[in-house]
Amino acid sequence: MTIRSNSDRRVTPGLTLVATLVATASLLLIPAPTVAGNDAGKPSYNEAGALILPQGYREWIYVGAPLTPNDMNGGKAEFPEFHSVYINPQGYQGYKNTGTFPDGTIMLKELVSVGAKKATSGSGYFMGDYVAVAVSVKDSKQFPDEPGHWGFFSFGNHPNLTPTAEPLPTASCNGCHEASADEDWVFTQYYPVLRAAKPE
Ligand code: HEC
Repeated sequence: MTIRSNSDRRVTPGLTLVATLVATASLLLIPAPTVAGNDAGKPSYNEAGALILPQGYREWIYVGAPLTPNDMNGGKAEFPEFHSVYINPQGYQGYKNTGTFPDGTIMLKELVSVGAKKATSGSGYFMGDYVAVAVSVKDSKQFPDEPGHWGFFSFGNHPNLTPTAEPLPTASCNGCHEASADEDWVFTQYYPVLRAAKPE
C-alpha cells in the first residue's frame, strides 16, 4: 500500500500538470461563443442578408406575454401559446429616450406552450415549454423597401431553431402589423412596459 501510494504521489503531480496544460490550451482554442456584434443585441446578418439568430435574448427587456388560448378560440387558435415578447437593449434605450423605435430595434417573440391550467393560486394558464421564435427588425439600411423598414423572420421551433433566417415576404407578416399595431408596426397597446417607458 505504501509503495503504491508513493508511486501515485510521484505520478499524480505530473498528470495534474498535463491536465492543467490541456485544459488551459483548450480554453485558448475555444472560439468566442457569440457571433461578433451579436452579443450586444444588435441585429447582424450573414453575407446573403439572412438575420443571425440573436444570442442572449432572454436577458433583454421583457415587454409582455399575450396569450390566445385554444379554449377561447373555438378549440383551435392559430398560435395557442404564450407570446413572450422581448426588445433588445438598444431598441429599448432609444424608445425610452425619444419615444420612437430606433434603427437596430429587434422585437423577439418566443412562443411558450400552455402547461398547467391549475396551480395552488387557482385555475388559469401557466407556462409550459419553449416552442418557437419569431423576430421583427427595424433597419432602414437592410430593409429600405419594406413598409416602415421592418423585416420579419421566423427561426422555426425549439429545440431546432435555425441559426439564420431569411426575411419573410412583406405580405405574410408586415401587412397585419401595419394595419393593426398601435405604433410603428409594434403592438405597443399590449406592452405596458413600453408604454411606461415612453417619454411624456
Ligand atoms: C393577423 C395579424 C398578424 C400577422 C399576419 C402576423 N402578426 Fe405578428 N403580431 C400580431 C399581433 C396582434 C401581435 C401582438 C399580440 C400577440 O402577440 O398576439 C404580434 C406580435 C408580433 C411580434 C412581437 C412584436 C410586436 O410587433 O408586437 C413579433 C416579433 C411578430 N408578431 C412577428 C411576426 C411574424 C414574423 C409574422 C409573419 C410570419 C407575423 N408576426 C405575422 C399580429 C400578426
